[in-house]
Amino acid sequence: MIIPVIMAGGSGTRLWPMSRSQYPKQFLPLVNATTMLQDTCSRLNGMETGSPLVICGEDHRFTVAEQLRQIDESSGSILLEPAGRNTAPAVALAALQLLQENQQGQEPVLLVLAADHVIKDVDAFQQAVTVAAGHAEADKLVTFGIVPDAPETGYGYIRQGDALAGAYRVAEFVEKPDLETAQGYLNEGGYVWNSGMFMFKASRYLAELEQYRPDILAACKLAMEQAQVDRDFVRPQAEAFLNCPDESIDYAVMEKTSEAVVVPMDCGWNDVGSWSALWDVAEKDAEQNVKIGDVISHNTHNSYIRSDSKLVATVGVDNLVIVESDDVIMVASQDSVQDVKQIVAELKQQQ
Ligand code: GDD
Ligand code: MG
Repeated sequence: MIIPVIMAGGSGTRLWPMSRSQYPKQFLPLVNATTMLQDTCSRLNGMETGSPLVICGEDHRFTVAEQLRQIDESSGSILLEPAGRNTAPAVALAALQLLQENQQGQEPVLLVLAADHVIKDVDAFQQAVTVAAGHAEADKLVTFGIVPDAPETGYGYIRQGDALAGAYRVAEFVEKPDLETAQGYLNEGGYVWNSGMFMFKASRYLAELEQYRPDILAACKLAMEQAQVDRDFVRPQAEAFLNCPDESIDYAVMEKTSEAVVVPMDCGWNDVGSWSALWDVAEKDAEQNVKIGDVISHNTHNSYIRSDSKLVATVGVDNLVIVESDDVIMVASQDSVQDVKQIVAELKQQQ
């Protein structure tokens, strides 16, 4: 049985001021009327999977429960982290929980999804998942590869090895290389981006963790042995989990394992990490502007303009991101949107 495990504990600071600690981007309707978490669930409609397991921070439990209810998603449990320890521990908690729930049944295959990705071609996505399921059943750790079009340093890079039934062996996995290295990979060819979605048997992932990061596995096991269950909410024991090292699945397992395969996925994927990425995926007018809410523009080009409450008017400007919300007006150049997180860091320091 395929169980979607939806990682929804990120903070999305580059999309400030829309994305806030109380409402990070995965819980916002950033590209259409439904939220990114809801889109992540709906994307699986028509596939044979179990109910999704969402894993997120304690603070967001009601947001997640309500958003799943709105789309009639009968969720399995919602795993609540007392604080984020990144994705390697989050997936370990999910694997332990699902193994425990399925003690008698067939071993669960985890389809690990990020809650904050845009995918335009759902059929292509579902086809890739179907191919991946076969490899996961054969005890591989499956990643999904996206053809790169720029030397992005925020992604994992996968060098494709031998072909293997609709997929390739992973010859090398490098998480977030520096710019020079990324450019070298692009020039060389044969590399794809890691999409940040994974598929494997629960036991396979835990065995890899045992081999490469026994400290993470031990902390997560301890936390789940003493977990508290309150209706749909499962709470790992806080102290044990807080003692867990903070590490992403990419560094902890995917860079190290020799059992990974990559399934190519051409599905209009975008991880909407920044305002310019949102501009990329949105419908634009004839001047290449994206205008959301009460916006009037004159002689304005290539801009993303979003208003929540006030009328926003622009004249004779290009390449801007303007986001107006209740308490903040943010103006950035399209070229500097990656640095929005610096503002968030500065604000945190002032608090
Ligand atoms: N539950 C939980 N707890 N979820 C988390 C946590 C955590 O502590 N930290 C992050 N997440 C969620 C985020 O909400 C997001 O949905 C997903 O896990 C991935 O985390 P990111 O922090 O967004 O990772 P990244 O974008 O830097 O890198 C990953 O994704 C890239 C593609 O977007 C890596 O897998 C890269 O290799 C990959 O290229
Ligand atoms: Mg991300």
